[in-house]
Amino acid sequence: MARIDQSVIEDIKFRNDIEQVISGYVSLKRAGSNMVGLCPFHSERSPSFTVFTSDQSFYCFGCGSGGDVITFIRKIENLDYPSAIEFLARRAGITLTLDKDSKKESDNKRRILEMNREAARFYHKMLLSPKGKPGLDYLLKRGLTMPIIKIFGLGFAPNEFSALTGFLRSKGYTDSEMSSAFLCGISRKNGMPYDYFRNRVMFPIISVTGDVVAFGGRVMDDSQPKYLNSSDTPVFKKSRNLFALNYAKSACSEQLILCEGYMDVIALHKAGFKNAVATLGTAITPEQARIFKRYTNRVIICYDADAAGQNAANKAFRLLGEAGLECKIIKVENAKDPDEYIKKFGPDAFTSLMSKSRSEFDFRFDSIMANNDTDTTDGKVKALSQVVEVIAEFSGAAQREVYIHKAAEALSLSPDSIRRDVEKSISGRNSRQRKDEFRKIITETEGYGDRINPDAPKNLKAAKAEEAIIGILLLHPEYISEMRKKGTLPLESDFFTEFGKKVFSLMSELSMTDNFSDSMLGESLTPDEMSRLEKIKITRRQVTSNTIEILYDCLETLKRARSADEKDVGDIIKEKRKKKN
Ligand code: CTP
Ligand code: MN
Repeated sequence: MARIDQSVIEDIKFRNDIEQVISGYVSLKRAGSNMVGLCPFHSERSPSFTVFTSDQSFYCFGCGSGGDVITFIRKIENLDYPSAIEFLARRAGITLTLDKDSKKESDNKRRILEMNREAARFYHKMLLSPKGKPGLDYLLKRGLTMPIIKIFGLGFAPNEFSALTGFLRSKGYTDSEMSSAFLCGISRKNGMPYDYFRNRVMFPIISVTGDVVAFGGRVMDDSQPKYLNSSDTPVFKKSRNLFALNYAKSACSEQLILCEGYMDVIALHKAGFKNAVATLGTAITPEQARIFKRYTNRVIICYDADAAGQNAANKAFRLLGEAGLECKIIKVENAKDPDEYIKKFGPDAFTSLMSKSRSEFDFRFDSIMANNDTDTTDGKVKALSQVVEVIAEFSGAAQREVYIHKAAEALSLSPDSIRRDVEKSISGRNSRQRKDEFRKIITETEGYGDRINPDAPKNLKAAKAEEAIIGILLLHPEYISEMRKKGTLPLESDFFTEFGKKVFSLMSELSMTDNFSDSMLGESLTPDEMSRLEKIKITRRQVTSNTIEILYDCLETLKRARSADEKDVGDIIKEKRKKKN
């Protein structure tokens, strides 16, 4: 495998200051000499994501993601190592000469994107041609105008089997390119490609970077399926894109509106709500929730009025809340969806609907009251206990007080009694939380359920010693060549876990080249593995004695631990418990 030159990588890292790069995704605040923010890789409400500016690395104390700026980009942009390098190079204005494999992959993606753009142009042109009349009539009948059709680049796929495929072939695209982009199917009978989208109005899905990444196509009558959508392709993942975010992102500093359908979004944009987006025919995913968090702090959910829509709204509400977003829900009245609502009642009505949106508490409270018959004793008790749980989740005492009074009034109970229940629930919750944390610490330190290093629990002592060795070598890569000179460098086989073996052999191989740095390991390790190394490094940095002598001691410990009988894992936990109590 041709490696990207290390000096180039160092240059790229130098010109992509980690604080600046991460600031593009996470809002960071200074905390001493470091920066902290809400982790983009897991959902949290208080910041445990830390950027260490002095050594240009990051680590999340909540979920354990960590590494250098390259690992960060790999994780957040979902790129492989060479593409992350390319991404950062482009960001810093450096021209890269890539090795063959990664060049091929990135060329392939480029070509697919260009082909998608050609396809979008083709569909749009079709819509405006005589052949596209049924499509255009349909869209105009649905209340769209020419300008909005142009802005969204809507199109029409003719009712033919080789309209698009014929066109793309004439542009030099191959059958396999078309099929990998989901623009054509391949006939099982004769192996020939045929147009995947036929007789549908077409909605191009455009990424935030302005690339056409996928398509949705709607029938113009009641036939099924109503929509066809591109599946995931090399340039597209449903779960990581939002419809119209490319337009909404510049209009959304305050809040985004999330709705269900393409047609809803377009109707809202047309009415002047340019901050509307939608998921792509799936329920909202945690990844999408985190995308929201990148662009805004507040989301207004406006789903269809039917039961399915309201259920989905509930789920979205919870998920977005977990991602640290302030959410509100609005329900359109006397219309099935926002599209119809705007058409019937106009933009002003929608604005006033938004101003009446319910807060998180109100929303949950209303649904508890609706789901229990509070005229019966049983229903009242049930509603009370659910409301108490909800109130207990809020951390502000004054805020809780407001909710307690509201609940007291609605259930005709005294605020004092509700307050006592809330306090009981909070203290129960706190002690459960402490127990959970303790359990988590034990499982983590003892390495159970360790996906990255699954061998660790088999011999915890050996695994620990091994981590210390790797940690010291990461902090002092120069020890490797010193030991090599002295002939005391351990062998791969001296290590106990597969993970340890892999990391050590990479380090010893890479350290043969000039100016080894641990970012080079990223080429062969996954972002999660890199995160583990960051954790090991951070743990080790807290220990002051990281000399080469200590390293030799650790190697001794590793040898002894390997030969010693494996200690029963249960015993270790018991010991730990004794120490803690
Ligand atoms: N959807 C889908 N496949 C279907 C139905 C729906 O992918 N068979 C997705 C589409 O992304 C659609 C969204 O779910 O935009 C919401 O569905 P729906 O409300 O049925 O569609 P609308 O876009 O609102 O279309 P319309 O108002 O024309 O019925
Ligand atoms: Mn709809």
